[in-house]
Amino acid sequence: MLETASVADRMGGRKVARIVFEPEQIQQRVKELGEEIGRAYPDGELLVLGLLKGSFIFLGDLVREIPRPLQVDFLVATSYGEATVSSGNVRLVYDPETRLAGKHILLVEDIVDSGNTMNELVRVLRDRRPRSLEICTLLHKRLAARLELEPRFVGFDAPPQFLVGYGLDHAGLYRNLPYLAALDLGERAGA
Ligand code: IMP
Ligand code: MG
Repeated sequence: MLETASVADRMGGRKVARIVFEPEQIQQRVKELGEEIGRAYPDGELLVLGLLKGSFIFLGDLVREIPRPLQVDFLVATSYGEATVSSGNVRLVYDPETRLAGKHILLVEDIVDSGNTMNELVRVLRDRRPRSLEICTLLHKRLAARLELEPRFVGFDAPPQFLVGYGLDHAGLYRNLPYLAALDLGERAGA
């Protein structure tokens, strides 16, 4: 188990409302996803495309559990800024350098909330003529009214709260928490 003090250091004095997924649970589920993904792609070239920054820890753990050859590249899109609700404006600030045409593309996301980010990216990626395009998301809030492409691989259904940790941030912070927690946006410890 984690030392309470080390968790407090990472939180900078802010309270975690509730731990939603423990590190052991995450690790177990990521292993299952990796095996499932391995079985889903019996042939062809697989390019795992991580959407930065939120997916960086998940992606790192996931690719090590996929038992087949693959390439890794990244996309950087921005939408939220400092807010906790989606603006609906998705901007690509880094485009993958790897060729996408003819490859199986697996887009890896940290969390699908409104679905705006995914919907935009799916349109952009389809234009590059991949052999196939699928989404793997660690968390799915299942709130999106309309998804361009329903994620084929889902780690966990997430509660309708703002989650941080294991790569997910609020205003750039908390990505280094080893678990996933619902952030208490109102309170600070001791306040
Ligand atoms: P969407 O466009 O509303 O689906 O949001 C997608 C992006 O917003 C994700 O890739 C995250 O970076 C961020 N996001 C959405 N919900 C959360 C959350 O609960 N915690 C942290 N980031 C989130
Ligand atoms: Mg984010």
